[in-house]
Amino acid sequence: MIAPPHQDPPASPSVLEPELAWSLLLTLRTRAKASEPLPDRFGLSLDNQGQIHLVPANDHSTLLEISGGGRWSARASVTPAASEQLDLYLPLALASHTQPLTVAHLGQSLDGYIATLTGASRYVNGPENLTHLHRMRALSDAVVVGSHTVACDNPQLTTRRVVGPNPVRVILDPRRRLDARWALFQDPAAPTLLVCDETRVDSAKWGHADILGVPCVGQRLDLQAVFVRLRARGLFGIFVEGGGLTVSAFLEEKLLDRLQITVAPFIMGSGRRSVTLPPIHDLADGLRPPHRRYPMGEDVLFDCHLRP
Ligand SMILES: NC(=O)c1ccc[n+]([C@@H]2O[C@H](COP(=O)([O-])OP(=O)(O)OC[C@H]3O[C@@H](n4cnc5c(N)ncnc54)[C@H](OP(=O)(O)O)[C@@H]3O)[C@@H](O)[C@H]2O)c1
Repeated sequence: MIAPPHQDPPASPSVLEPELAWSLLLTLRTRAKASEPLPDRFGLSLDNQGQIHLVPANDHSTLLEISGGGRWSARASVTPAASEQLDLYLPLALASHTQPLTVAHLGQSLDGYIATLTGASRYVNGPENLTHLHRMRALSDAVVVGSHTVACDNPQLTTRRVVGPNPVRVILDPRRRLDARWALFQDPAAPTLLVCDETRVDSAKWGHADILGVPCVGQRLDLQAVFVRLRARGLFGIFVEGGGLTVSAFLEEKLLDRLQITVAPFIMGSGRRSVTLPPIHDLADGLRPPHRRYPMGEDVLFDCHLRP
């Protein structure tokens, strides 16, 4: 619901900096999650108390105007860093039940590896990319990882480097290989779901995590069924954070809207693969998605648009 124009005179900063851009994105995320859909075109304004309000697009106090598909324009001048933040994160901030979005990320070496053969991946990419991952988590409803990532990294999947909420943590462990002592089944920092083959559900809980059984197609989880179950829980902005096998399964089944690959100027020479898909014989059969590049410290993030 759009509030009537508020009475306080707008604060109208003359320059939109990254910190304010991030606050605007977090506010948008909260509003997009509300049951009432956002209008096609609206504005955001800032009052003298630092509160952000949704206002009609043409309101005199509008600081940032948002229109369909994540397009934005600002009345203030926008620093390059804030502009990149809005471009990169706005689509996820706007994910909702009417406009779900699934984004995957992998950080890899120049030669296409995400970890050593023994599973060490801290850190393929630099600190800027780590902050990016925490931002993606903060704007997602759910962060998804495969069982090997838990077994190798014992991750927390929380938003410690940025201001913002923790997403629901979703672990794909079809064969129930993970025991309940891994950190994210024990720490209550965020709700956690263990997704497994429906024939292996033997209790409601694993540590503090809820167990969610879904059908398997051969050895693979039916990822469409996973989406149905996540959406039934109100989870529409999904971030698939790895590893390579998990991201590749989502990509192969055409379930991703965006694929982000951050390349580090580093050669590993061997290791666990990034994206792997069935072999092609003709280069024309490869994927050449429209993309945008974002420098992240020494690394470069390729934000690939897999759907218009
Ligand atoms: N650089 C990065 O961006 C990054 C990010 C995350 C992790 N990592 C690293 O990557 C390594 C782990 O990656 P990984 O590719 O080996 O494994 P992974 O993707 O973490 O986990 C793969 C496993 O997850 C389960 N799984 C995922 N999708 C499934 C599906 N559709 N159907 C059935 N099961 C599914 C399967 O478990 P089962 O085998 O038990 O059936 C599968 O073998 C670790 O070393 C980690 O440190 C790197």
